[in-house]
Amino acid sequence: MATIYYTATSLDGFLATAEHSLDWLFEVPGAAEAESGIGDFMAGIGALAMGSSTYEWLLAVEKPHEKPGAWQESFGDRPTWVFTHRNLPSVPDADIRFTQAPVDQVHAKMAAGAGDRDIWLMGGGDLVGQFADAGLLDRVMVTIAPVTLGAGAPLLPRDIRSDQLTLTSVSQAGQFAELAYDVKPKVTT
Ligand SMILES: NC(=O)c1ccc[n+]([C@@H]2O[C@H](COP(=O)([O-])OP(=O)(O)OC[C@H]3O[C@@H](n4cnc5c(N)ncnc54)[C@H](OP(=O)(O)O)[C@@H]3O)[C@@H](O)[C@H]2O)c1
Repeated sequence: MATIYYTATSLDGFLATAEHSLDWLFEVPGAAEAESGIGDFMAGIGALAMGSSTYEWLLAVEKPHEKPGAWQESFGDRPTWVFTHRNLPSVPDADIRFTQAPVDQVHAKMAAGAGDRDIWLMGGGDLVGQFADAGLLDRVMVTIAPVTLGAGAPLLPRDIRSDQLTLTSVSQAGQFAELAYDVKPKVTT
């Protein structure tokens, strides 16, 4: 079981614009074809976590309230933890668990829910950073779009050096570069 941060990013390390737009990503030629590879990744996932901005983006854009089965089409019945301090709407028939508990406690529940499958940390970057701070991030898989944004939601706003990151895979999907890194916990002296 591995805990994986899998995301698309701009070349300059942003997940979304400051207004939480992903238009820049979907307008890249071949974006839909590149995204179709997510099925193989998803097959190995047993539990997910995301922050509230990411969840609210999914609600606003995918509209799972208006489209019965839309959430399940993307995520199946996988348990999904949404980190928030607010009361957010749930999605009918989806296994969504709102939490503001420390990430190590949530991770233990996610691991139990995932069984022998992996955990997908969807983002945003600071939430993934909280898992990294706790030594609970095993892999980073980024799909880099041929776009710079100049500003926005950061990919991973942490100081993680090359003694912790090992490049394990490099590939191309149309206009996208796909990189994978194994992550080692920080050695504290
Ligand atoms: N390019 C991609 O493939 C991709 C992937 C993922 C996300 N995105 C986009 O990137 C943007 C990310 O937004 P973001 O940087 O704001 O990150 P986010 O993690 O989606 O949301 C951050 C919010 O989550 C809540 N939160 C975070 N940690 C928490 C904790 N430990 N306990 C309780 N609540 C916690 C807080 O909000 P509250 O407590 O106020 O609710 C915080 O302001 C979104 O627009 C998303 O759609 C893009």
